[in-house]
Amino acid sequence: MPHDTAIDRKQILVTSALPYANGDIHLGHLLEAVQTDIFVRFNKLRGHDVLYVCADDTHGTPVELSALRLGITPEELVEKARENHIRDYSGYNICFDIFYTTNSEENRYYAELIYENLRKNDLVIEKEINQYYCEHDKRFLPDRFIVGTCPRCKAEKQYGDVCETCGTTYEPTELVDPKCGICSCTPVMRASTHIYVELAKREEFLREFIERPGTLQSDMKNFVKTWIDEGLREWCISRDGPYFGFKIPGTENKYFYVWMDAPIGYLSSTDRWCKDNGANVLDYWKKGTSTEIVHFIGKDIVYFHALFWPVMLDTANFAVPSSIKIHGFLNIQGEKMSKSRGTFILAKEYLEKVNHPQAAEFLRFYYGSKLSLTTADLDLNKDELINRVNTTLANNIGNLYHRAMVFSERYFEGMIPAISWDKKIAALVEAAAPEIAQWYENCEFKLVVEKVQSLGSVGNKYFQDTKPWELIKSGDKEAAGAVVVTCINLIKALAVFLKPIVPQISGRVEKQFSTDFKWDDYRFSLSGCKINEVEKLVIPLESAHLDALFTTTDTEASSS
Ligand code: 2FM
Ligand code: ZN
Repeated sequence: MPHDTAIDRKQILVTSALPYANGDIHLGHLLEAVQTDIFVRFNKLRGHDVLYVCADDTHGTPVELSALRLGITPEELVEKARENHIRDYSGYNICFDIFYTTNSEENRYYAELIYENLRKNDLVIEKEINQYYCEHDKRFLPDRFIVGTCPRCKAEKQYGDVCETCGTTYEPTELVDPKCGICSCTPVMRASTHIYVELAKREEFLREFIERPGTLQSDMKNFVKTWIDEGLREWCISRDGPYFGFKIPGTENKYFYVWMDAPIGYLSSTDRWCKDNGANVLDYWKKGTSTEIVHFIGKDIVYFHALFWPVMLDTANFAVPSSIKIHGFLNIQGEKMSKSRGTFILAKEYLEKVNHPQAAEFLRFYYGSKLSLTTADLDLNKDELINRVNTTLANNIGNLYHRAMVFSERYFEGMIPAISWDKKIAALVEAAAPEIAQWYENCEFKLVVEKVQSLGSVGNKYFQDTKPWELIKSGDKEAAGAVVVTCINLIKALAVFLKPIVPQISGRVEKQFSTDFKWDDYRFSLSGCKINEVEKLVIPLESAHLDALFTTTDTEASSS
């Protein structure tokens, strides 16, 4: 039988998109973090050298204004946000190697370096443009800080970039009756010189980049291609002060636009980690490195990652991403996450309201059981959450675990008998392993869960059909022992297969066998050894555990 052991050890750098410091971590952020974390944990389990990097995205007008409102400095605000974000992610066992900040000296260094390279390569131009300016607040107003009536559908209170009622996008100057979003005064037009990157000059490189195998999902590649076909527009990378960000060298009062230095956070956070761990950042990021760079992002920020970011990197002689994995949005009970509808669930709130010790693990499992490499949206549904958790974790794997372990305690003094196991079941597991590994690599996590579910069912049926309790009664202890050793080895295999998705549940199985699983431990190997005291693996999830969390949405659904 072909063995699955010999893998070439790779160096992989993996990132999740950097959350804005200006907001709390919610279940949408967690969808991406869990997806990334599963991929990272799998690759670590396989023995690859993986670095998982993330940071807070700290710059821009919203942070600056929130700080102003709170009477603190933006630096204080982003420090506090970072503490909260780290706490929220760790509640779900997201295993970052570093969670840094874009407001760092490393990030300033790389932003300036990349800018210098863009200039040297003749990609930077300056243009004078007219923008809304608030004379009361003494500042230019970003699109999101101008409010007015949509020029198309006439809906009131729309932002300066897109109408949330009819979906039309427009220039802020097209808004009817524009007002300053901060003080409600009517803004005036004022000229200012801005700095632009001429992306079109790198069109050929971008066309070649998106065609590299594995870079983008094929539907997304076509999408990006149409953007290139429509013509790459110049990208404005400057903002006028006051602005919370990095001053652009050689200018009076211009700052790098937040989207310029945000992705640079991937690079600067790697640098910070390397400094702290005696490694060399260029092993990860130098053009031509063998390190794979994998970004996980949502479908709303593809333009930045597939067009701007590779141009910035390539122009400055850094490596470009090997793969950009794009996911859809999270819906709650079939609805878009929305604060006003009460379907906006914070990471912290989920943990507080779900009255179950395995709440975080269950959300990871739910996401894992639904995730594949697609930009389709994913729905969090109360009944489905209960169903999936109980069907696979509690009633299938948990049940098999409990029956086999208790049986071993009762009739074999807590020993795994030294008897040969069922060859057919061992062969099924052996055949499943390379398939499961491939699904993990392709981010098809739902297929992993389906396979584990089906192997668990095989185990439960085997236990049920062979009736080891009757074999004991009739004096055939050897046959009963074969059932025990088979089921316990199967459980170990399933715990290995599920470890990237539910590390804590698998951790309980590891504790049981006093070991720390590596990928190859899926193989049947336990025989003639003692098991530790048996504890329940999974406590079933009941509707009542979720009542506090879903109250608002239930009421909404029943009243509509
Ligand atoms: O969309 C967002 O939430 C951004 N803060 C993501 C930044 S990802 C990267 F480019 F920094
Ligand atoms: Zn104003």
